[in-house]
Amino acid sequence: MSQRRVLITGASGQLGQALQDLALPGWAMEPLSSADLDVRDWPAVRSRFESLSPDLVIHTAAATNVDRCEREPEWAFEVNALGTRHVAQGSALVDAQLVYISTNYVFNGGKSGPYHEFDQPNPISVYGASKLAGEVEALNATSKCHVVRTASVYAEHGNNFVRTMRGLMDRLDRITVVDDQDSNPTYATDLAVAVAEIAARAPFGVYHATNEGTASWHEWAVEIADRIGATTEVAPISASEFQRDAEPPANGTLVSLPLARLGITLPPWRDGLKRCLERWPE
Ligand SMILES: NC(=O)c1ccc[n+]([C@@H]2O[C@H](COP(=O)([O-])OP(=O)(O)OC[C@H]3O[C@@H](n4cnc5c(N)ncnc54)[C@H](OP(=O)(O)O)[C@@H]3O)[C@@H](O)[C@H]2O)c1
Repeated sequence: MSQRRVLITGASGQLGQALQDLALPGWAMEPLSSADLDVRDWPAVRSRFESLSPDLVIHTAAATNVDRCEREPEWAFEVNALGTRHVAQGSALVDAQLVYISTNYVFNGGKSGPYHEFDQPNPISVYGASKLAGEVEALNATSKCHVVRTASVYAEHGNNFVRTMRGLMDRLDRITVVDDQDSNPTYATDLAVAVAEIAARAPFGVYHATNEGTASWHEWAVEIADRIGATTEVAPISASEFQRDAEPPANGTLVSLPLARLGITLPPWRDGLKRCLERWPE
């Protein structure tokens, strides 16, 4: 079987790692961590792309600490917008197909139902604005581009909501968790499978890919507690009682119009969580 050279940015991140773990037989992977390649450095990006000459680039690298993005907007835009310009221009230079991973934070959260691919982005955070700027850079640089927006990603490695909740539940008898912000908890492994399928057979354009179903942070935390057998009381609070630098969209839920028609579906979010917790390192 002929192999595609697949360059992955952000290789040590949650999705970057999950993509490598797929170990697809048709993919010869070139995983690049931030230590291997800083996407803000155009000469370095250009030279890496020219020497590796990938067929497919999956750009997962990002400034993902949303509160830090709010405090340090230049950092957010340099990584998420300028870095994506570089990766997208590098892809165009070597005629590689590009998948850019984006976020539900591009929406303002005011819609009553889940956001589909043709809803109008209107970010309310620096992170969301910088990722949306990255979408524009990616789509402008190359016509061979998929933008894949996802939400609330977690894995058995990396910093994420599941790890935070597990840590709190280990230590505390009672925790409070926001119950008036919703999203689609998405297991990095399931997302990686969907990204590979989109790259293989979806027409270029924008896609929403999350585990199926929605949950508030509180519902998600209750499910984690149930699954790990924690006795911690998980009490609901409103977002207004939990101050943070960057406010997530109140409704951060996504749905896909085109993916179901392509037969690309992700499992229900509770199923993804179950599998992740079964693989959780002791
Ligand atoms: N996590 C979520 O809840 C979520 C939700 C929606 C969308 N997304 C999007 O999904 C994608 C993957 O997310 P993830 O959860 O896998 O993120 P992650 O675990 O935070 O990984 C991001 C990776 O990007 C790397 N990176 C940061 N700055 C870089 C730079 N200047 N040059 C090169 N690499 C750099 C980081 O390396 P270092 O650790 O070494 O800095 C890290 O390995 C991102 O594009 C994110 O915006 C994530």
